[in-house]
Amino acid sequence: MTAPYLDIEGLSVALREGARLLRRVSIKVNPGEVHALVGESGAGKSMIARAVFGILPNSIEILEGRVALAGEDLNAMSQGPRRSFIGKRAAFIPQDPLTALNPSRRIEPQITDRLIHILGMKTNEARARALALLGEVKIAEPERVLRLYPHELSGGMRQRVLIAAAFAAEPRLIVADEPTTALDVTVQKQILALIADMQARHGTALLFITHNLGVVAKLCQTASVLYAGKVVEQASVRQLFEKPQHAYTRALMAATPRYDRPDESLKPASPELLAALAREVADTDAAWLKERHHG
Ligand SMILES: Nc1ncnc2c1ncn2[C@@H]1O[C@H](COP(=O)(O)OP(=O)(O)OP(=O)(O)O)[C@@H](O)[C@H]1O
Ligand SMILES: [Mg+2]
Repeated sequence: MTAPYLDIEGLSVALREGARLLRRVSIKVNPGEVHALVGESGAGKSMIARAVFGILPNSIEILEGRVALAGEDLNAMSQGPRRSFIGKRAAFIPQDPLTALNPSRRIEPQITDRLIHILGMKTNEARARALALLGEVKIAEPERVLRLYPHELSGGMRQRVLIAAAFAAEPRLIVADEPTTALDVTVQKQILALIADMQARHGTALLFITHNLGVVAKLCQTASVLYAGKVVEQASVRQLFEKPQHAYTRALMAATPRYDRPDESLKPASPELLAALAREVADTDAAWLKERHHG
């Protein structure tokens, strides 16, 4: 067995006022593996991504569990060393390419900063690498693009720039948080194909967050299905499609948006299923509280 590159183990987070948002989430991503994290809006997918990078909002606290990257427990590190440890090994592709880029800076430093600060490259070296990366993500006239500001690029171009920036320091893990939802349908397909291509070329492990089961089938090998901050099912993608175990997964499958209509998000489940899910979550919480008070 290979050791997982990303190892999230029993992670629970809550609002400081009380409500639990993640319920003992465990997700493992092996080196080079593409793992899907699927769930409806509000399930806690972005919360998991933020926990990996140590950027949870202040209003949220970690109750238990650990996140390990390349075998090292991130919670055991202090902030500075942790940031540089993560920066060398993992990168993030966000949902909204506009807010992720600094509007007042040209594209060049937004790609080269991490090469210079994390890998210690000289400016010229970093620039050459940025040009090569822009070529890889199929941006024409990369010399010109490096001098532009984010608002001078289309949404698809901006996402290509962010993909280039994510791969720049050769991370061994990329977390992509619904990287295409902000884009037009035709552009979505191109960006998905690009992410798949870059992932395969670089052999990077990928945690791919999405609403879209069609994308899961195309891109991912393993998957976690999240409901109300709880992983209700975890399996190979093949098994998930052929033999979904949990009623919620089966409901998702029945409502699978088509790959050619990726803008449709997951349909809500039936009232009976929602009631069963609410009971399951309440039982999980009751068992958890009991264990905490007695243990
Ligand atoms: N800064 C915050 N403070 C308090 N609660 C938050 C905060 N951010 C998110 N939440 C809550 O945490 C839960 C999980 O949110 P999260 O953003 O992880 O969902 P998601 O699965 O990424 O949804 P989406 O598909 O819409 O992006 C939601 O109930 C949300 O309301
Ligand atoms: Mg989200």
